[in-house]
Amino acid sequence: MNLNEIVDTGNIRPSKQTNSVRSSITSSLELIGHGAFANVYKGKSPGTVIKVMETNNASDPYIKFINIAHHNQHNLFFPRIYSAKIVEQQIPTTSYNSESVFVFIVQMEKLVPLTHSRLKEVTPYLMSQIGIRDHSDGAGLSLDFALDRLFSSRALRREMEKSATNNDFKQALRALDGLFNSSHVDVKTANIMVRLTSKGPQLVLTDPVAPSYFIEM
Ligand SMILES: Nc1ncnc2c1ncn2[C@@H]1O[C@H](COP(=O)(O)OP(=O)(O)OP(=O)(O)O)[C@@H](O)[C@H]1O
Ligand SMILES: [Mg+2]
Repeated sequence: MNLNEIVDTGNIRPSKQTNSVRSSITSSLELIGHGAFANVYKGKSPGTVIKVMETNNASDPYIKFINIAHHNQHNLFFPRIYSAKIVEQQIPTTSYNSESVFVFIVQMEKLVPLTHSRLKEVTPYLMSQIGIRDHSDGAGLSLDFALDRLFSSRALRREMEKSATNNDFKQALRALDGLFNSSHVDVKTANIMVRLTSKGPQLVLTDPVAPSYFIEM
């Protein structure tokens, strides 16, 4: 399987494959992180990771998010996407029936968790990039609470957009508006990562919406 297939224009379309896609892709890769819905592996090129997620929905909100990120690569709040593809697999449910499972593979830039101990001191500065100035402890519960409250409310997102001084953040909120309105918003410290640059640390929204499995459960 070619993981270097660069997403060009338009949407990412599923290609069909019958044998075990996930294990054939990931058996040679080194696992570096996992969440509720995805595994993250060390990428083949330095500074890259490969995220592999399974979903029963080819229009999964996370796939839509990666499409939006791909169309907004100039915006620093989106992760750099190097390639992405969806592979459809039929999983037998009974001897007569099967269901489609979609394995979504995205190769993206390697980022640093916002919760990394070395970033504790710069967290207030990073939060000020998105207009949050009054959380108490840097990266604890109160910050997650503030993020969830702000991003989950359409009205508060509009307020953030109006008052944002960072133009990239304003534009990111606009680009994500439709997706936020139609999915389960999942902005929390674990879903925001940091790009270390020569100009200083930069916040990146890595998975601000929950995959659809989450909603169906
Ligand atoms: N671009 C990246 N660079 C480095 N590590 C990453 C990257 N993306 C994700 N990770 C790490 O991989 C782990 C799982 O990632 P991720 O949050 O994407 O999974 P998830 O299934 O979406 O989890 P959740 O549903 O809890 O958000 C996390 O520990 C995260 O820090
Ligand atoms: Mg996550």
